[in-house]
Amino acid sequence: MKHLIDIMELTTEEINELIATAEDIMANPDKYCEACKRKKLATLFYEPSTRTRLSFEAAMLELGGSVLGFSEASSSSVSKGESVADTARTVSCYADIIAMRHPKEGAPLVASKFATVPVINAGDGGHNHPTQTLTDLLTIKREKGRLSRLTIGCCGDLKFGRTVHSLIFAMSRYPEVDFILISPEELRIPEHVRGECLDKTGIPYQETTSLEDAMPKLDILYMTRVQRERFFNEQDYIRLKDSYILTPDKLGNARKDLSILHPLPRVNEISTAIDTDPRACYFRQALCGKYIRMALILKLLEVRV
Ligand code: CP
Repeated sequence: MKHLIDIMELTTEEINELIATAEDIMANPDKYCEACKRKKLATLFYEPSTRTRLSFEAAMLELGGSVLGFSEASSSSVSKGESVADTARTVSCYADIIAMRHPKEGAPLVASKFATVPVINAGDGGHNHPTQTLTDLLTIKREKGRLSRLTIGCCGDLKFGRTVHSLIFAMSRYPEVDFILISPEELRIPEHVRGECLDKTGIPYQETTSLEDAMPKLDILYMTRVQRERFFNEQDYIRLKDSYILTPDKLGNARKDLSILHPLPRVNEISTAIDTDPRACYFRQALCGKYIRMALILKLLEVRV
């Protein structure tokens, strides 16, 4: 039985296969509409979510399956003190596959040790968000036609932004990719990403506080929200939250074929005036999330179509 806890558990070939399956589903949805008939997905969300939970649920419904679960811990027996291990073991009695989001890093890994069905990490603390990364890779592939030869700018909260961490790990495997990491000093990329990926692989990267300086070099601009829920101190959040706000004038020196991604939700970091710019990909990215999760459910349930 396979789980997906960390993006690095997938080989590059497996990622490429998932992208190919997602693109086939997009082109031929009818072929897949009963693929998961009588299968059930449980979404166990201990933290708020719009895109991840609903795209997982839409994915299973479009595969002909059913969904069950909870969207806040307070509505489950977790509020009575039940452990992640016992919850995972119990839900395995009712569902064929589990998607779990949890504020504690490592909780989905614990669930995977006790569940008797596949467990997918739908985001754990500031650690990892592998299905967002798969979403990002599918989006980049569709927007650029390739996953190589790219300069990727990651901008905003690079310390707590788990989507950026997973994206760096995943994209570091593709040839001729380099990163420009744009953040305030306090929100620089953490040591573990540097040590386990950037420095270890030797992938070229630079760090800067200036979005303006980085802009003309970028093929991809990956904007992120400052993660209020991970700050210990509200005053620090207030001081840093508007460090980068992408407005149309800031795109003045950007490439014509720039792709602007954001895992969403956005707060203030991308002006809504950008939304009509053809370079804004973030709502197309949200749609990609449903298709790549369909592909992942098929893979983990070993359903062949
Ligand atoms: N991108 C993402 O994880 O969004 P949600 O928090 O809405 O699921």
